[in-house]
Amino acid sequence: MQQGFPLIRFMAARLRMGMSDADILQSPELHPLAPTTATVLLKAVKEIWLLLQEGTPLEKVQKPLQRYGIEEQTLAAIIESVHAEDVHTWFKQSTVPAGPRCPAWDEEKEKNLLFAQATEWIASGEKDLAAAALRRLLLLDCDSSQYYNTLSSVLLSAHNHIFMLKHLHAVLQPKRYLEIGVSFGHSIVLAQPGTQAVGIDPELKATCHRLPDHIRLYGMTSDDFFAKVDVQAVLGGPLDMAFLDGMHLFEYLLRDFIHAERHCHRHSVILLHDTYPVDGVVAARKRLTGYWLGDVWKMVPCLKKYRPELQIDTIAVQPSGLTVVRGLDPGNRTLLDHLPEIYQEFIYLNFAQVQDKMDELVNLVPADVAHITRDWLLQPAEKA
Ligand SMILES: C[S@@+](CC[C@H](N)C(=O)[O-])C[C@H]1O[C@@H](n2cnc3c(N)ncnc32)[C@H](O)[C@@H]1O
Repeated sequence: MQQGFPLIRFMAARLRMGMSDADILQSPELHPLAPTTATVLLKAVKEIWLLLQEGTPLEKVQKPLQRYGIEEQTLAAIIESVHAEDVHTWFKQSTVPAGPRCPAWDEEKEKNLLFAQATEWIASGEKDLAAAALRRLLLLDCDSSQYYNTLSSVLLSAHNHIFMLKHLHAVLQPKRYLEIGVSFGHSIVLAQPGTQAVGIDPELKATCHRLPDHIRLYGMTSDDFFAKVDVQAVLGGPLDMAFLDGMHLFEYLLRDFIHAERHCHRHSVILLHDTYPVDGVVAARKRLTGYWLGDVWKMVPCLKKYRPELQIDTIAVQPSGLTVVRGLDPGNRTLLDHLPEIYQEFIYLNFAQVQDKMDELVNLVPADVAHITRDWLLQPAEKA
């Protein structure tokens, strides 16, 4: 099996020699790989290398590495290659002097110490150190919403998406509002009595029975809803605002966006949730963790490429950003006409390929209510 991964072994060996990432990536030996593939593989090899060097059991290395979207069997083979070619040899070569045995590694203890350290760094304003510690903790326990949420509180604003939605309802005062993905009703309940609201979710939670009368709920998938219900007839006209927070897979959000835009007007605003994950493990298509955002973040790069005329900004709210799309055009068919290419291009995009340029990619703006005014929200339509 190791014979099949000479480039992986090459990377691992160069890392062990202390070569920088840039120098490794420039090596002619890696030229057969596309630059983005080489970058992702090098990141993965570094993580495997680190985890194995720290004594992480081989069978526990794979889960956090799945964030790179590398096919399962290939990933297992890469881990084997790094293990067999590098770490193993390194351990065999190092002679352990006789003496007291090292105490066994206690993972819980390490996590507690590191989290306490991260909390101290947050308190003293050392954000970079705190973020690095929290990313390290997510490698140890990618299932922890506590680590993810703390990281998002370090990197994003103090406000969350519910706070910002409440503000958007207050300044825009939409007459007609659509929400996809209602769950417990925490976001749709923000629609004020002057707003006619429609909420769609195939799994409405019990708390939704207590919502006021200006909010109508449909217990079905959004695809079913748009196929069976004339939303403009229900609401009495086109949408002023829509919040898309349903199934967290790219192709579902793409369809929700296409459907919702058809029922908009030039001044409408569409909001997309979870477009700015702060760590890749929750941003994978495959659900690896209890806390999961999926790959709906791909919607922003997709819209920027195929609909460059749209005004797109992502508000830096916890836990994972809120994108505001303006300048909508209900008659535009570009996304529908390019569906096969869009699927082909974005389904296989990996978060590791874009993570470093996310701020620019999503047009990240501060969660500053003084800036997010009615005029700001209506601006692009008036310019058009
Ligand atoms: C993250 S929750 C929504 C949370 C809510 N918007 C809030 O902020 O409190 C996502 C919801 O989408 C729903 N969902 C899943 N697939 C869906 C689909 N195909 N159409 C509509 N909703 C869907 C799930 O049942 C789940 O309740």
